[in-house]
Amino acid sequence: MERKEFLKTCGYACLGGAFLETLLASCGSTKMISGAISNADLVVPVSSFLKKDKSFRQYVVVHNDQLEYPVCLYRFSQAEYSALYMKCPHQGAELQVFGDRLQCPAHGSEFSSNGIVQNGPADANLRIFPVTIQNEQIQISLK
Ligand code: FES
Repeated sequence: MERKEFLKTCGYACLGGAFLETLLASCGSTKMISGAISNADLVVPVSSFLKKDKSFRQYVVVHNDQLEYPVCLYRFSQAEYSALYMKCPHQGAELQVFGDRLQCPAHGSEFSSNGIVQNGPADANLRIFPVTIQNEQIQISLK
């Protein structure tokens, strides 16, 4: 192998490695957790947001078998959260989370982390659940 060809091959390998690392990092940023349902509340420990380095995640996706769709729980501060039902108001597809927005894989609607529609075809905001915090537990009211 010529030196020039070797360097070119190494360059492509480095680019591929960097791309793969970015891809894996974005996949790893979504934390899926199972929430317990108690008295019509979906309950999630505050510690679910804690990362190994003691910083906080921006959001977690909460599942429970009794829910048809998961709930995306955003953390804005120690006392400020928003809980969004991940059902697209357009035709009911399950939304996907990317950082501070939710996106519909069916027709491309986008929503903010407060559940406000940003791009159609959806013309309604997401269902938002009231959130309270008690004893280090985040309680998402499903009523
Ligand atoms: S179902 Fe979500 S945009 Fe159509």
